[in-house]
Amino acid sequence: MPPTDVLNILHLEDSPVDHDLVSRTLKRTGFAHTITRVETLIDFLNYVGTGAFSLVIADYRLPGFTAIDAWLALPETTDRPPFILLSGAIGEAAAVTAIQTGISDYLHKDEIARLERVISRTMEMHRTRRAKAEVDRELALSEKRLSDLTGHLQTAIDRERAAIAREIHDDIGGSLAAANLDIAWITRHVSDPALLEHAQAATDMLQHAMGASQRIMMDLRPAVLDQGLLAAIQWLASCSERRSSMKIVVRSNCEDLHPDKAVQLVAYRTAQEALTNVTKYAKCSLVQIEISNAGNVLTLEVCDNGVGITREEMMKPHAFGIRGLQERAKTVGGWLDVSTQSGRGTTITLSVPMASMPSTPAETQFQ
Ligand SMILES: Nc1ncnc2c1ncn2[C@@H]1O[C@H](COP(=O)(O)OP(=O)(O)OP(=O)(O)O)[C@@H](O)[C@H]1O
Ligand SMILES: [Mg+2]
Repeated sequence: MPPTDVLNILHLEDSPVDHDLVSRTLKRTGFAHTITRVETLIDFLNYVGTGAFSLVIADYRLPGFTAIDAWLALPETTDRPPFILLSGAIGEAAAVTAIQTGISDYLHKDEIARLERVISRTMEMHRTRRAKAEVDRELALSEKRLSDLTGHLQTAIDRERAAIAREIHDDIGGSLAAANLDIAWITRHVSDPALLEHAQAATDMLQHAMGASQRIMMDLRPAVLDQGLLAAIQWLASCSERRSSMKIVVRSNCEDLHPDKAVQLVAYRTAQEALTNVTKYAKCSLVQIEISNAGNVLTLEVCDNGVGITREEMMKPHAFGIRGLQERAKTVGGWLDVSTQSGRGTTITLSVPMASMPSTPAETQFQ
């Protein structure tokens, strides 16, 4: 114990003689302390409630209650002072209960000479426990702040993407369409083969630019979501299937899935990232996507029969796909699970609790 600290001890003891013995023993040790005796449960709770005491020493048997009753009557907080049982024999069952309920230490009255050592050890453990609780609390707080920030950034990115998509649509898309009409007009009004050839080349370039702006817009803001989540995911699946040799099956127990827009976007981005990962890493022949609404929890499952993900791959420092999905899920009150087995594939599951949705069976397969 640091010598400068005054330890205020609350002594729960009905016998003045025993209290005297404890007081004298503590006086002999020489460490700075005060000791106050209480003997009823009410007084004990009132005194502890003042927050003025840093340690409780208690006899086991008291009039009408035991030290364990007193300990359990204290609110379970990190401020609860450590509690040492100093008593005659209390029996094995009581000793076990004392340990199970978190009482700091037990000392038989015959061993009162060891009291100072027991107090030192108890106070040290208490300080360590409090410091750990404080660090845990700060860590949890900082993790929450980080998660809130990620969610906020994700939402900001989505909003920004939607704005850029609108700009491309209204501005670039509009201009390209107008230029296309003008060239079509020129084509109708000239007969010079050289001019017609240039007009055709310009039309081809414009078609290419319009196709590219459509693709960019789709990437920025998946307009296909306007046709419903299931249709959007079927579209994603068909695109992935065209680019690879995998077979992708999409199943759903709801044909007409229209959860709110934020949830749709999270589900869509989850399927998109999961399919990108499957294409890049899984080396699989079959992907099964299942969207369901059971017990008002929207579930999206993307399951491949590929190589699986190792622990090291999962912890890659610059891989943000799956981590990003986990944060995205939280922004709509959901969560993401990854289950994987070496050589047997990977399943990414998004779950989002939500209000009731209609359910009609549907199955689509992309060849
Ligand atoms: N379906 C899968 N099958 C096999 N391995 C996978 C699969 N999905 C992910 N992985 C492995 O897990 C790692 C982490 O994936 P994650 O999507 O988080 O990051 P990334 O794809 O590497 O990078 P980013 O998504 O940030 O561009 C991948 O690098 C890959 O090794
Ligand atoms: Mg990825």
